[in-house]
Amino acid sequence: MVDKHVVITGGAGFIGSYLTGQLLHEGYHVTVVDDLLYGGESLLSYLPNELFHFVKADVCESRAIRASIRSDWAKPQAVIHLAAIAGFPTCQSVGRLVAWRYNVESTQHVFEQTEALGVDRFIYLSTYSNYGLSADGEPVTEETPLNPQSLYAETKVASERYLLAQTEGSTCAPMIFRPTTLYGLSPRPRFDLIVNQFVFDAYIRRKLMIYQRGYSRSFVHIADAVHGIILGLQSPVESIRGQVFNVGAERGNLTKDQVVKLILKRLPETRIQYKDITFGGNMRDISVSFKKIQDELGFKAKYSVDDGVREILHALQDGLIREPSDPRYRNARFIVQ
Ligand SMILES: NC(=O)c1ccc[n+]([C@@H]2O[C@H](COP(=O)([O-])OP(=O)(O)OC[C@H]3O[C@@H](n4cnc5c(N)ncnc54)[C@H](O)[C@@H]3O)[C@@H](O)[C@H]2O)c1
Repeated sequence: MVDKHVVITGGAGFIGSYLTGQLLHEGYHVTVVDDLLYGGESLLSYLPNELFHFVKADVCESRAIRASIRSDWAKPQAVIHLAAIAGFPTCQSVGRLVAWRYNVESTQHVFEQTEALGVDRFIYLSTYSNYGLSADGEPVTEETPLNPQSLYAETKVASERYLLAQTEGSTCAPMIFRPTTLYGLSPRPRFDLIVNQFVFDAYIRRKLMIYQRGYSRSFVHIADAVHGIILGLQSPVESIRGQVFNVGAERGNLTKDQVVKLILKRLPETRIQYKDITFGGNMRDISVSFKKIQDELGFKAKYSVDDGVREILHALQDGLIREPSDPRYRNARFIVQ
């Protein structure tokens, strides 16, 4: 039997470190290529595992992936490209040039090397931010025209366009996931994601400041998002070639007010303040359809935002994260909702 082997770029991050653990558990060899922008503690427990190989490298370098491949391991079946400057505020703070290099040029470099290595599947993590505002209030599907409202979303749309243009005539099949905003915990916790941040603010600061309270967003638990990625990895390659899938759950389509209600249920003392300001370039008000991933990949989300609120609160109340306000748990200093 040929060994199962996957390369994950950005494998030390919030999603990557969780995915790495799941794949090792399923018996995959996993090569992680990461520049450790936010540290590498998330990978420490995998070091003794003989199925795990870590390479510290910047995937913007044109040979980073080729150089990371171990000659004594089977050729990878897939490259999962997660490395990016993730999120609207982080892209704003590094500026257009850097954001484009990390989020668009890196995708091109990584895809070219994936193809050159003879790997037949390239999985890309895009984002539902690409939809921007929904024109008619209907849930957006994968066919809905994209309407990026931020530099972050612009870079993700550009990467998608590049990959979809490679679909015909490449030996490597690109597939694209558009996850909604994640919540929950991973070996690299993030408290700059809305649900996680709201629980943090309500528990630690005892107050919440809510902008655009009636706006709808969509949320997915990290375990469900990772489950979706693994379904994409394990589906027949011809069924995913050039396909785009939203990843999330209908019950994760919530307004910020609805998220606040879930938090108040567990932390009723929280003071709530509302402000009607908008964040330039981050006007998002959408709900999302997940019919395609359910019908075609058999995806079913297990967790609700209420489960996530309970889980994050549990971790904070029991001191499982010693200094949750540490900057290492946030990608940018300023946070938007
Ligand atoms: N977290 C979410 O809610 C969410 C939602 C939709 C899409 N995504 C996408 O999923 C991917 C992973 O997100 P995340 O939440 O895990 O982010 P993260 O910031 O926690 O992780 C990103 C990882 O990529 C690494 N990295 C960045 N640039 C690199 C480079 N040039 N070379 C090597 N390593 C590099 C960082 O060191 C980090 O470990 C991103 O592409 C993001 O846009 C995330």
